Amino acid sequence: MILEKGKAALLLGMQYGDEGKGKLIDVLAKEADLVCRVQGGNNAGHTIWVNGEKLTTHLLPSGVLHEKTKLVIGSGVVIDPFVLATEIKNMISKGVLLSPQRFFVDSRAAVILPYHRNLDVSREKLRAQNANQIGTTGKGVGPAYASRAFRDAPRMAEFCVWDNFLQWLDRHPHLAEDLDESAISSLRDVSAFLAPYIKDCAMVANNALASGSKVLLEGAQGTMLDVGFGTYPYVTSSSLVSGSCAGGLGIPPWAIKRVLGVIKAYSTRVGNGPYPGEIEGTFAETLRQKGHEFGSTTGRPRSVGWLDLVALRYHVRINGLTDLAIMKSDVLCGVDPVAVVTAYKDKRTGEEMRGFPVTIQAWESIEPVLEFVPGWSSLTTSKGKLSKEFSNFVKKVENFVGVSAIYLSTGPDRNAGIWR
Ligand code: GDP
Ligand code: IMO
Ligand code: MG
Repeated sequence: MILEKGKAALLLGMQYGDEGKGKLIDVLAKEADLVCRVQGGNNAGHTIWVNGEKLTTHLLPSGVLHEKTKLVIGSGVVIDPFVLATEIKNMISKGVLLSPQRFFVDSRAAVILPYHRNLDVSREKLRAQNANQIGTTGKGVGPAYASRAFRDAPRMAEFCVWDNFLQWLDRHPHLAEDLDESAISSLRDVSAFLAPYIKDCAMVANNALASGSKVLLEGAQGTMLDVGFGTYPYVTSSSLVSGSCAGGLGIPPWAIKRVLGVIKAYSTRVGNGPYPGEIEGTFAETLRQKGHEFGSTTGRPRSVGWLDLVALRYHVRINGLTDLAIMKSDVLCGVDPVAVVTAYKDKRTGEEMRGFPVTIQAWESIEPVLEFVPGWSSLTTSKGKLSKEFSNFVKKVENFVGVSAIYLSTGPDRNAGIWR
């Protein structure tokens, strides 16, 4: 496993989100002392299946079901207090221990208010008029990060001391525009409910590391949605790359010893933007149904595509991946052949592109080169070894990107997977 005493390990999505991070965090959390969300907000939806029961987390770290593991939401996360309070209450009603001794929320995390949610929706409507809608989740995540950069978003420290929050609204009256009396009253209840959870989580994490705890950082979204290195402007609003994740918690970057990248054996994307290797037509629909590819947060159908090894190789370097996990290969059982994207070709000249596209114009000028490999009818043989075809697929991925796959997920359940 990737967790070491006194060190941190980071798990990151390596595609367009929804790679199966939640499942793997749940698997790893059993051995972790502290699991921490470090960026994003409730635009994330992380699914865990245990004994046929499905659980989706949006803000709570996906280690929530392992009660000996402590949980942190770091300062880099933006928090919709209503969503967080509802998630906590739901979890408690399921009998999960979620006390302020187990779960901590950083006092510096910025707060998503109704103003931010409304702005998210209205900006999307405006973009739609100019045919450049991003397809955001509409949760107010982008406007909340922008508001923090403008230095007008309250943080949990301000929000959870009610008089301070009222003063904040007085000083930033635009934030109160969408708040009627009943909204204010609901916010007051939520503020009081969340107050006991507020801590300096940078210190919680650093103290945990110093005392020899195993710390696991749970990335949200996926590196192709990174605001810096993704398919800008069709990206989320936060920095997702490994270099930023230490800052989203407040630990030194050198404390992160392993960076585990998670991919599907194919790919999916929700929202708009470039998507090399996208599959269309009836086969896409078959794959979508078979993989249950519908957004965990918005329920939108996910576009599906082949695994893009060019993008993966690029992001292996940006993120310094030490390990890889391949999820959902079971969904491709019976698909023959299976394709992977191994080059980007210039549509006009037919020549292989050097470098990685940056502008939308550059993305539009490329055509993915597909390489076909024999498909598999099962992942393992009757003796429990990897089937020849699946093993060759895994080797192909590993050789192309230069990182070993240490985990192969074989189904949604927490027990369905192979450690190598
Ligand atoms: P996340 O955002 O990266 O946590 O991923 P999501 O939870 O949004 O989406 C991943 C989906 O794939 C969920 O429905 C998981 O239950 C499911 N899943 C995860 N691993 C596997 C796997 O190996 N096989 C199958 N069939 N489903 C998986
Ligand atoms: P998890 O953690 C998939 C996408 C949205 C949209 C773009 C911007 O579950 O992998 P935003 O609401 O962030 O401003 O939307 O980013 N997006 C995700 N897609 N999984 C996610 O999270 C996502 N979080 C944001 O669909 O294209
Ligand atoms: Mg998801």
